[in-house]
Parts: sequence; structure tokens; C-alpha cells
Amino acid sequence: MSDGLKKNPLVMIVDDVPKNIQILGNILRENIQCDFSFAQDGRQALDIISRSAPDLILLDITMPVMDGLEVCRALKKNPETADIPIIFITARVDSEDVIKGFEAGAVDYITKPFNSPELLARVKTQLAIREQNAIILRQNSELRELLHVLCHDLVNPVAAILGLVNMLDDSGPMRKLKPLMLDAADNALGLIALIRNMRKLEDKNESLDLRYLPLSELVRESLCMLEQGFNKKNIAVSIEMPDALHVCVEAVSFVNSVMNNIFSNAIKFSMKNSTVFVSAVLKGTEALLVIKDSGIGMPDEVLNNIFSVSFSVSRTGTDGETGSGFGMPLVKKFVEAYGGRIEISSSEENELSPSGTEIRIFLPGRISDL
Ligand SMILES: Nc1ncnc2c1ncn2[C@@H]1O[C@H](COP(=O)(O)OP(=O)(O)OP(=O)(O)O)[C@@H](O)[C@H]1O
Ligand SMILES: [Mg+2]
Repeated sequence: MSDGLKKNPLVMIVDDVPKNIQILGNILRENIQCDFSFAQDGRQALDIISRSAPDLILLDITMPVMDGLEVCRALKKNPETADIPIIFITARVDSEDVIKGFEAGAVDYITKPFNSPELLARVKTQLAIREQNAIILRQNSELRELLHVLCHDLVNPVAAILGLVNMLDDSGPMRKLKPLMLDAADNALGLIALIRNMRKLEDKNESLDLRYLPLSELVRESLCMLEQGFNKKNIAVSIEMPDALHVCVEAVSFVNSVMNNIFSNAIKFSMKNSTVFVSAVLKGTEALLVIKDSGIGMPDEVLNNIFSVSFSVSRTGTDGETGSGFGMPLVKKFVEAYGGRIEISSSEENELSPSGTEIRIFLPGRISDL
């Protein structure tokens, strides 16, 4: 939108005393380029807001019919109006009104009688924040759109490369090159799939199908998928957890993205003939799942950036396995989407302790026979 077409911000003033509306309106009109709407009680305010949402509301606390606190709570409860900033108008600074106003969701307050410079400073600040937020949201959505197009349009050429490489003759110099090219193309497709998963997760955070499910079954499902990898390095798995322990997760992502990545990392960075320990206990309403390997461990630089998508910490495994470095950021995103959290400690080999990595995942949990 060009500057010429930019709309003025809409400021709403809600006060049961017309004189106050007049004073506030005059101070603002003379100093800020904005449009106004007015209401003299809470109900009227909600009615007007539902038809035309303002960018800022100056809201009196004490009003007949429906007071300012009630209006504020109603607006914050409604997702369509929750992010409209509200500045309370109150007669006394140190009164309980101010605390109650903040608790109800207000961003600031002004006191009567009105002090023009202070009033203007507070209103301008909130309008500037509102404008910045709108810009950030717009840029964010443009970037997401771009990422979507990029992922969508990259899949076909990369899949075509994969298909063509597969058709290449296995003899001669291709014998060594073909698996490398297949790996690279596979990795590229994996990366695209991961970015898409992350996007989906951000979009549908609210609607993940979260259910209490038996943790040991989910863990075994993932171990079963990775059986070949464990066997190839002769890595044993020790599992210790009550069968009745249930965790609240979304099954497909938990098995395929969370557990599979953690286990495939444990395989990738463990030595042959070692053991991976998996245990879980319930602590109150929280299940603690621990996955411990005695692999090569991580230096601080890797550990400190392991959840960052912009800083690649990907290393090759003990058998030359490669990866994209997107696994752990995705694990964290999913765990947090389930309402849980993840912690990692890791040490490389030194004189004091053997090397290894311990991952602790906290999830909403309960013991249940179902
Ligand atoms: N169990 C582990 N032991 C040692 N290092 C690990 C372990 N898990 C992760 N790391 C380190 O963290 C990096 C990032 O892990 P992450 O799972 O995000 O990516 P990746 O395994 O390299 O690739 P991808 O999972 O996308 O195939 C790894 O490359 C490795 O350097
Ligand atoms: Mg990984």
C-alpha cells in the first residue's frame, strides 16, 4: 500500500462523561493524525467495536451498564479483538483500579485530570507499537508464503534428479558416485519435508490431535522402524518404563519426528557394540523420558546451537552418516507443541568422564490402564 493511501489509525474513546470524551478528543485531534469513534458505556462500546475494530481504545473504568474492566475482559477473550491495545482512564493513580486494569489485559493507564504531554506520549507509543506489529505480521506472512512456494517448487526438480540418478548405470565411476548423489538428493528432499513439517506445526499449533498414549508402545514403534540401523552397529537398547505410563502427544509426529530423530542420532553418534538406555518415570503430572547414549558426545558449540535452524551443527556420524541438522529444532518444536520441554546434556571424552549424550523430555503424563 502506498503512503498516500495509508489509513489513519482509529482511536476509540469510551467514557460515560461526554465532557471527558470531548477533552480527550480535542487533545488527540490537535496533535495526532487519527480518526475517532466514541461510546458512553461498555455495551455500546462492544457493539461499535464488533462492527469497526479500533487500533487503540481509551477506556474509562467506572461506567454504568458495563464497566471498563468487564469490557476489557470481554475484548481479551475474543480472538478477533484480543490484540487491540487498551489504555485505562482512571481517577486515582495508586488505586486498585490500575492493578485490576493490568490484570484484565490493559497495556497502560492515564489519570484524570488529563495531562496532555503524558497522554499524547502514551497514545503515540501504543499506536507506534501497533503499527510495528502490523508490519512484522505482514512481513512474516510474506516470508511464509515465499517459503511455501520455494518448498513446493523445489520438490519436483529434486525428485526428478533422484529418479534420473537411480536410472544411472552402477558400473565404472558411477559405482562410487551414484550412492553419493542419491544421498544428496535424498537429503534435499528430507530438508524440504522438514521445513514443511515445521510450517505445518506453526500453523496448526492449536489443532494438534493430542491424546494420552502409552509411551512404551510409541518408543517401541520407533525402535522397530530403526531396527536395521541399531543392528548394523550392533547397538543394544535397554528400556525401563512402566507400561501404564501415558503421555499426551500427537502420535505420528512423536514417533516419526521426535523419537526417530533422537534414536537415529543416538545410532549415528554411537560406537559399535554400545548400549542406548531409554527410561521414563512419572513425576506428578509430568512424565520424564530419558534417552542416554555413550556415543561421541558434543562440544559446547554444537550443544549450544543444537536447536537453531540458522546455525548448522550437523556432523557426520561414527560411520560417515550425514544429515541436514534440522532434526533437533523440529524435535523441540513438537515437544513444545505438546506442552512439554526438552533438555540435553552431553560430554565429549575427557580424563574425568566417558563421552555420551543424555536427552531429557518432559511431557504431560499420567498412569492409566486404558
Ligand atoms: N546423540 C548425539 N550425540 C552426539 N551428537 C549429537 C547427538 N544428537 C545430535 N548431535 C549433534 O547435533 C547435530 C544436530 O542434530 P540434528 O538431529 O538436528 O541433525 P542431524 O542429525 O545432523 O541431521 P538430520 O537429523 O536432519 O538428519 C548433529 O549433527 C550432531 O552434531
Ligand atoms: Mg538427526
